[in-house]
Amino acid sequence: SAAPLIDPFARAIRYLRVSVTDRCDFRCVYCMSENMTFLPKKDLLTLEELDRLCSAFVRLGVEKLRITGGEPLVRRGIMTFFDGMSRHLATGALKELTLTTNGSQLEKFAKNLADAGVRRINVSLDTLDDTKFAEITRWGRLSQVLRGIDAAQAAGLRVKINTVALKGFNEDELHTLTDWCASRDMDLTFIEVMPMGDIGNENRIGQYWSLKDLRAELESRHRLTDLPLSTGGPARYVQFENGQKVGFITPLSHNFCESCNRVRITCTGEIYTCLGQEGHSDLRAPLRASEADAPLEDAIRAAIALKPKGHDFDYTRQEVAGQMTRHMSHTGG
Ligand code: GTP
Ligand code: 5AD
Ligand code: SF4
Repeated sequence: SAAPLIDPFARAIRYLRVSVTDRCDFRCVYCMSENMTFLPKKDLLTLEELDRLCSAFVRLGVEKLRITGGEPLVRRGIMTFFDGMSRHLATGALKELTLTTNGSQLEKFAKNLADAGVRRINVSLDTLDDTKFAEITRWGRLSQVLRGIDAAQAAGLRVKINTVALKGFNEDELHTLTDWCASRDMDLTFIEVMPMGDIGNENRIGQYWSLKDLRAELESRHRLTDLPLSTGGPARYVQFENGQKVGFITPLSHNFCESCNRVRITCTGEIYTCLGQEGHSDLRAPLRASEADAPLEDAIRAAIALKPKGHDFDYTRQEVAGQMTRHMSHTGG
């Protein structure tokens, strides 16, 4: 594969996360506000521009491409984009093409995604209770997501569930969730809630459930073995005696920035080199300024040269540090 992009802290950038829309059919409370104003469609990169941009990153050594949003499957024509990216799988330049989805449109798209070469998807799901699901997503229907997961498995896709650990919300479902995933042969990753978006009137510290504590709770029921496994993202995995794999994404309780291998593109073509920092550069202008690849690749290299060491998220001393008004949906997690 191509020589990788290297950032100022000697980290190789092999993983690109691309948000293809800021829209979503849900409004998860930790991700969006209830009345979001979405971008005018003309500000979005076209599907052709997204293809050109992602292809430039693949030339520069990116091996893993994750499509996010908002909800990526609500972007019109998105399958055309996936079909286009599958040519990079065919050459071997790209090792993984995948997405993170809320699952609501999977019933419709699972088969097409598998046909485009997607092998494994991450589905966000915080509760198995209908009422709580409607509450956290502000109006989503759990049954629709469950049908989507069924369709994904039927299409041969591996499914990993992403659950944001929320004290007082899904604490009581910890074992229900792990048992349910085990019964369906799905891995499960817990994520510590990060202080982003509309946080003024919410009690983030109160909601924060450290994955150290969550892990201890799992240990009351299961023997946990640490695994050397990496899926290329920030999760560290353990395995239960029954084979169930559980991942932990711990930006707060255990910082993993040292091994960061990724950058993010928003749906308007901004590159954020860290989820937890405001710094970003524009790639849309160089993309639109010229048909030639060199200026775009130069702009990408210049942006990578500004990648910060890590985030400043912190909930200690009963205060939130590093909090950001940017919504998680802007960069797709
Ligand atoms: P795998 O390929 O399965 O490893 O997926 P992934 O964990 O890379 O992707 P996913 O979209 O499932 O990410 C889960 C969540 O992890 C994201 O939505 C973020 O909330 C969090 N996350 C991923 N990368 C970072 C990071 O660099 N910094 C922080 N703070 N959080 C991250
Ligand atoms: N903190 C942690 N995870 C979040 N996600 C969205 N907002 C937050 C937040 N504030 C998660 C979603 C999804 C992934 C893309 O990001 O639940 O799994
Ligand atoms: Fe939509 Fe995902 Fe954000 Fe929920 S977390 S509002 S499903 S983009």
